[in-house]
Amino acid sequence: MLVRNALPQPRVWAYDADGMATNHFSPFTADPQFTALYDEMAARWFADEVVDARWRMWLLTRWARHARSVPGAFAEFGTYRGGCAWMVLSTAELGPERRFYLFDTFAGIPHENLTEAERASEFGGRLADTSVEYVAQLLAPWGDIPQLVPGDVFATTESAPAGPLAFAHIDLNAAAPTEHVLRHVYDRLSPGGVIVFDDYGWTGYEDQRARIDAFVASRPEELVALPTGQAVLLRSP
Ligand SMILES: C[S@@+](CC[C@H](N)C(=O)[O-])C[C@H]1O[C@@H](n2cnc3c(N)ncnc32)[C@H](O)[C@@H]1O
Repeated sequence: MLVRNALPQPRVWAYDADGMATNHFSPFTADPQFTALYDEMAARWFADEVVDARWRMWLLTRWARHARSVPGAFAEFGTYRGGCAWMVLSTAELGPERRFYLFDTFAGIPHENLTEAERASEFGGRLADTSVEYVAQLLAPWGDIPQLVPGDVFATTESAPAGPLAFAHIDLNAAAPTEHVLRHVYDRLSPGGVIVFDDYGWTGYEDQRARIDAFVASRPEELVALPTGQAVLLRSP
């Protein structure tokens, strides 16, 4: 079916980065406070480049703000140098009673539990240029809200507080730990709670997508894939 827009569309992209281009309204372009925060974060996020992932970061932070009305803690699985966590904390204004658990080895992707394709692409050992000390210092302005949980998620999820979750960001870049974390999170997610998957639609992460799809297929929720490569699941009541 051929669908035409009634109005002529501009030929200039409002956003053209991070694997997508759009000429639709991109709300962060009209939000100088978000832009300033993003620029501050991006300048120290990766050691060798400044990346423009504003659409992903905008959606992540909007879902985090949305989840403030849901009871439970926030959690991120895959924190690296704390860029997403810093943006969530800077924009979501979490109350002092809320906890934001941050799971990572803080020493790179473990070589264990990778799929054949992930091993062939040499995922193991990537993203090691971080540390508990670096992220703890970065997030120190938020006091006790951020709680770092260092170690392999296969070892740390069960030892972490088991209370309800309102919001989870899963950004582990590997299939087996993503599936492990998804099982852990789903059972604890409050009704209306949000899971944001960072890697879902990205080329090279097909093994991860297959495991997420297989998990969600037998659940009542619908996984919503986004043009940013992210996907979102909202927990049914
Ligand atoms: C793409 S990075 C996360 C990016 C992060 N959200 C940010 O804001 O920059 C993926 C992270 O997942 C972590 N990771 C991957 N597999 C893990 C595992 N089995 N246990 C703990 N951390 C893991 C890596 O150490 C890495 O820091």
